[in-house]
Amino acid sequence: MEQLLEQIENYKKEIGNYAATDPQSAENFRIKYLGSKGIIKNLMGEMKNIPGEKKKEFGQMMNDLKAFAETKYESIKEAVNVHQQSSGDQIDLSLPGDPLTPGSRHPITLMRNRIVSIFQRLGFSIADGPEIEDDWHNFTALNISENHPARDMQDTFYIQHQLEGHTDWLLRTHTSNVQIRVMEKNRQSGQGNLPIRIVCPGRVYRNETISARSHCFFHQVEGLYVDEHVSFADLKQTLYFFAQEMYGKDIKPRFRPSYFPFTEPSAEMDITCFICGGKGCRICKQTGWVEILGCGMVHPKVLENCGIDSNKYTGFAFGMGIERPAMLLYGVNDIRLFSENDVRFLKQFTSMA
Ligand code: PHE
Repeated sequence: MEQLLEQIENYKKEIGNYAATDPQSAENFRIKYLGSKGIIKNLMGEMKNIPGEKKKEFGQMMNDLKAFAETKYESIKEAVNVHQQSSGDQIDLSLPGDPLTPGSRHPITLMRNRIVSIFQRLGFSIADGPEIEDDWHNFTALNISENHPARDMQDTFYIQHQLEGHTDWLLRTHTSNVQIRVMEKNRQSGQGNLPIRIVCPGRVYRNETISARSHCFFHQVEGLYVDEHVSFADLKQTLYFFAQEMYGKDIKPRFRPSYFPFTEPSAEMDITCFICGGKGCRICKQTGWVEILGCGMVHPKVLENCGIDSNKYTGFAFGMGIERPAMLLYGVNDIRLFSENDVRFLKQFTSMA
């Protein structure tokens, strides 16, 4: 028995010191110690010669030895594998690397930047605001009466949730909410931030059926100019300059009377079709004109709602969608492409700044 125990100890040392770097010597290890005719199996055979009271102790030692050999075998296999993978002949260093594909700006971002930068050159700065808005900033302050159709559930996503103590939350239907927030600062601070000259780009939401031409969310750039003596002539000249920069020097503008609760008078601005030059085509539905934005002089009530003296100050405002000009100028025929994140679509804009 003593001799056997000594033998076991020696094998343990031997196993511990075994070094293998190739699959063959790993296999040799397995056969020698763990194989069906291997050392451990053989030693197990000695059990029958062990006296009864020692059988338990011997069995325990053999189990330890076997577990030790198995662990060692696992680590040998791993070492051999790693060795194999990193050995030079498996890697072809002359192969070309993976190409780095440059990212690109989203077409909506491109178009937004293009629109915004024209107004920035005229001295407008960018203003930002929340997409989750309350009824006051999206509707009431803008003189949109309580039973105005724009408030219909059909048009607006309402949020059924109590936040900051009230429940009249919604997803903004236009970025005019930002204009209210900026004008309101005037009242809050007490000292005024006039004149105001801002553009408000951002995402807006309307409860519309999704199709190739309309989506339940889209993007807008709205603008606001408030100062003493701002007139409709300023509005026309500013927007005419914008349209020429955006669609080409040759376009002609046309202002049609319209209605928005927050502007008076209100207008819609058309330009001669920049595709056919006014002759009539599919894009302008043979009329020679395309509508590009809504605008008007800020309603005195809206100024007063924000604490601005409407006897002293006047202003103009305008708003336009980004998707439609992007579709026309980039030749995109389905609005859904803008939000599907299909790389085949997006990478077509890689070269555009
Ligand atoms: N808020 C309007 C809309 O979303 C656009 C607009 C803004 C019209 C400012 C006139 C003046 O449709």
